[in-house]
Amino acid sequence: MISLADILAEHAEREGPLLPILHDVQKVFGHVSEEAMREIAHALNLTRAEVYGVVSFYHDFRTEAETRPVLKLCRAEACKARGVEALVPVAEGQTRVKVEPIYCLGLCSVGPAALVGETVHARLDSTRLTALLASL
Ligand code: FES
Repeated sequence: MISLADILAEHAEREGPLLPILHDVQKVFGHVSEEAMREIAHALNLTRAEVYGVVSFYHDFRTEAETRPVLKLCRAEACKARGVEALVPVAEGQTRVKVEPIYCLGLCSVGPAALVGETVHARLDSTRLTALLASL
């Protein structure tokens, strides 16, 4: 089991370690807790407000654990042109799944696209999205 201390130690010699540390904490613990922000701030000689500012700026970081599966639906231009906005009510109608926006997954030519965990899903339409949501 990886601890916050392990993550801090792993990045100790790195230049500009805050973002890599936050990404690792998010990946390992599923969120960046208040306590973790304080420990990270202390380790990097930053204020808690500086760490919180970075955490709150990036959508990928959460301050509380999300228990539901997370589906990130691409809302960038190419997916909009391919009809993603019509899929938003379908996705958001499913309260079992947390739906978040993301802006381009690099699958513009086969959008609308979504990301669940580290798996991308392309060519979504209402039927495919409904099936994907049901599978989560
Ligand atoms: Fe959606 Fe690029 S705009 S994948």
